[in-house]
Amino acid sequence: MITTVLIALVVTTALAGVPNQEETKRIIDHLSDVEHFKNEHHNKQYDHDAFLGEDQAKAFDQLPPEESKRRLGIIVDKIDGDSDGYVTLVELKDWIRYTQKRYIDEDVDRHWRQHNPSNDETIPWETYRKNVYGFMDGMDEKELQSDSNEAYTYSNLLKRDRRRWHHADADENDALNRTEFAAFLHPEENPLMRDIVVLETLEDIDTDKDGKVSLEEYIGDVYKPDSDDEEEPDWVKQEREQFTGYRDTNKDGYMDEHEVKAWIAPPEFDHAEAEARHLVFEADSDADEKLTKQEILDKYDLFVGSQATDFGQALARHDEF
Ligand SMILES: *[C@@H]1O[C@H](CO)[C@@H](O)[C@H](O)[C@H]1NC(C)=O
Repeated sequence: MITTVLIALVVTTALAGVPNQEETKRIIDHLSDVEHFKNEHHNKQYDHDAFLGEDQAKAFDQLPPEESKRRLGIIVDKIDGDSDGYVTLVELKDWIRYTQKRYIDEDVDRHWRQHNPSNDETIPWETYRKNVYGFMDGMDEKELQSDSNEAYTYSNLLKRDRRRWHHADADENDALNRTEFAAFLHPEENPLMRDIVVLETLEDIDTDKDGKVSLEEYIGDVYKPDSDDEEEPDWVKQEREQFTGYRDTNKDGYMDEHEVKAWIAPPEFDHAEAEARHLVFEADSDADEKLTKQEILDKYDLFVGSQATDFGQALARHDEF
């Protein structure tokens, strides 16, 4: 259903052109952050290509394969910090942390400048709201409530943003400084924002809005059969067993907020390490627990879609090559 919201948003911008594209993109990023936060941790089907943001993916697609392999080779040399010809798990993990941080810093900078061109110390909620949702000011209540209306989608996003804003606003002055604004834009990176990410995820999956996730909602979030008589693939059966056996710890047939939290945001979870382990596992063809440049180039598709290459972005950046 995330997809439905995304399509609604894209269609809305195309037709009405109301919120500026930059903002729509941010909202979409918000949603997809939560989406890959959720999938990345626990869904084996999730393809790391999802890490390629829309524009980065496009930029990357325009490179001929030989050129992107050449660029990937240059990145590998950088990841191999001690230049011994092997990329270790630790080197890969450090690199992922570094690119992730760089990506977030740049993203926060961009949005900060956009909402706060005079670089004041904080952005007040009202400024942010006007910039992003001001186009709804003239709409009447009925329009905002009607179920099929895209205005309804936006008014829900507004409510969600409002709530997330409160969570990020540590000193409760209803204005966010740069640190707080970073937490608002990238809650998935901030342990203090964990509860709100859990809540947003739960709400996304909970289609009947009863405040908990049923088995059918859990499956429906990742799998929609093409026809009624389609036989369920094995991975879906495994997901069912996951739900019943592990996710629903109190065995009441539902995942509540605590169970969703244990699922998507276990406190000890290290995203960079998980991603690094995944990459080593997939690419280490001789199983010596470190990667040569050749092993990485052999799995070129995996790496260009990975966070290790800065969501593919690094490959498309001109300054580095
Ligand atoms: C923003 O405010 C928080 C308290 O809400 C404070 O801890 C943090 O240091 C401030 N950051 C900046 C960049 O001023």
